[in-house]
Amino acid sequence: MVRIDRFPARTTLLDWLRLQERSTGTKEGCAEGDCGACAVVVVRERNGRLVYEPVNSCITLLGQLDGAELITVEDLADDGVLHPVQEAMAREHGSQCGFCTPGIVMSLFAHYHECNGDSSREKINDVLAGNLCRCTGYRPIVDAGLEACSGGADDRFTRNAAARRRSIAALDDKADLFVGDAAAFFAAPASEQSLARLYADHPDATIVAGATDVGLWITKKLTPIEKIIQVGRVAELSGTEETTGGCAIGAIVSLARAAPVLGSIDPDIAEVLRRFGSIQVRASGTVGGNIANGSPIGDLAPMLIALGATVELRHCETIRQLPLENFFLDYGKQDRKPGEFVRRLLVPKLLPATHFRAYKITKRGDEDISAVLAAFCIKVDGGRIADAKAAFGGMAAIPKRAKAVEEKLRGLPLADPDAWRPAADAVAQDFTPLTDLRASAAYRGRVAGNLVIKMLAEIAGVTSSVTRIADRRMIAHAAE
Ligand SMILES: Cc1cc2nc3c(=O)[nH]c(=O)nc-3n(C[C@H](O)[C@H](O)[C@H](O)COP(=O)(O)OP(=O)(O)OC[C@H]3O[C@@H](n4cnc5c(N)ncnc54)[C@H](O)[C@@H]3O)c2cc1C
Ligand code: FES
Ligand code: FES
Repeated sequence: MVRIDRFPARTTLLDWLRLQERSTGTKEGCAEGDCGACAVVVVRERNGRLVYEPVNSCITLLGQLDGAELITVEDLADDGVLHPVQEAMAREHGSQCGFCTPGIVMSLFAHYHECNGDSSREKINDVLAGNLCRCTGYRPIVDAGLEACSGGADDRFTRNAAARRRSIAALDDKADLFVGDAAAFFAAPASEQSLARLYADHPDATIVAGATDVGLWITKKLTPIEKIIQVGRVAELSGTEETTGGCAIGAIVSLARAAPVLGSIDPDIAEVLRRFGSIQVRASGTVGGNIANGSPIGDLAPMLIALGATVELRHCETIRQLPLENFFLDYGKQDRKPGEFVRRLLVPKLLPATHFRAYKITKRGDEDISAVLAAFCIKVDGGRIADAKAAFGGMAAIPKRAKAVEEKLRGLPLADPDAWRPAADAVAQDFTPLTDLRASAAYRGRVAGNLVIKMLAEIAGVTSSVTRIADRRMIAHAAE
């Protein structure tokens, strides 16, 4: 067990490992969560079992590790004998310069423990989407992963799992954590009440959930952050539950844990979440963080707005709810007062005869931020569109409904594609997109209109094997 009594709030796990522990097996590549060279595995107890999650240590804060087990590449070999994942990497020639290798080994090690021996090339491709190898090429790496992960986990971590689970459980003292003083601190409240009180007393503090945004403020923008309130231990914000109208998702539920719940609403949501960052980003990043950051290119907001979701906020003892679409006021400005935090998202289920579609447009298939994200919720009655909600990300300073598009969609006959064009053209009335490094304004406008047509074609009955390149690829691959 490692006990740390004092540390600067902004200390990253990677800096602590490399500069203080001199555990230099974990590498620093990009320092922004993209390359996976710094991947380590964090183990926590969840529902009575140990969960192994790969995280990017460059954008994880040291204090986030409170109460967890940390496994780095140095821990894998057992008395000089390589771990099965390491052995397979060596046998398959999965490493050339070796810089990416510790991160790749740690991502595969987490998969080795989480896949129950049921791995596949596709799953390993997903697991490695956030691990960049510049020189070996992925074929031997994926082969090594398949070889190591296909037989069920059997290593010293499985053999001493019961003792480790007891040790991890014993670390949870249910007490608020506070390191520092009133001027500069790292705090991790253990209850919602403590969080509400602390944040009301220090509305200038920065809330940190998964730190997949805040971590970059520290490593890239060098933002001076003196007071950090980490919300990862607040049990009241960590659950998902079914409600009469749909589901409620706590703010600190990770994107990985939210994926099956939100994905069960519609497979397009599952696919967008599969492509959300990487496995490391989804393990740390939270639903609340993705909404609270107010990003115009966040993936959840347009989908949840189209679904008609509600955000629940709390300030001291006051809890309020508002339609998510009203939460985003302007670039970087949300309807959230100082000391108020996001508590839950309430997501309604789809009503009968309602179709949902979401499309994430990026330059790369995996681990890329959206240039445009379009989401539609369409009610059909007698072959015509009876009601429509359309929301876009990447098209304005905030994620936003496309009300002119919706207006033109209402009443459209699905059987007459010649009548669809005005709905697509109405994108130009709703948005004046920007040109940036992800896409030009012209491209954004064009693609958004085309997505309206694609959605209409799919709802009218054209199969996604015709409308989607990814589906075509899967079919072609399956036929090989
Ligand atoms: C490599 C990489 C890839 C990414 N890919 C994607 C992607 O594909 N799609 C996408 O949408 N995003 C992506 N992101 C951005 C990021 O992962 C998400 O926005 C994520 O959901 C943020 O959640 P978090 O818990 O890490 O937030 P944090 O970084 O902890 O916080 C983000 C912001 O929200 C505030 N905040 C957090 N929780 C609360 C709360 N409960 N109440 C009030 N304020 C709160 C924080 O103060 C901060 O301002 C990516 C990031 C990285 C580094
Ligand atoms: S150093 Fe690249 S993800 Fe951490
Ligand atoms: S082995 Fe060189 S970057 Fe992967």
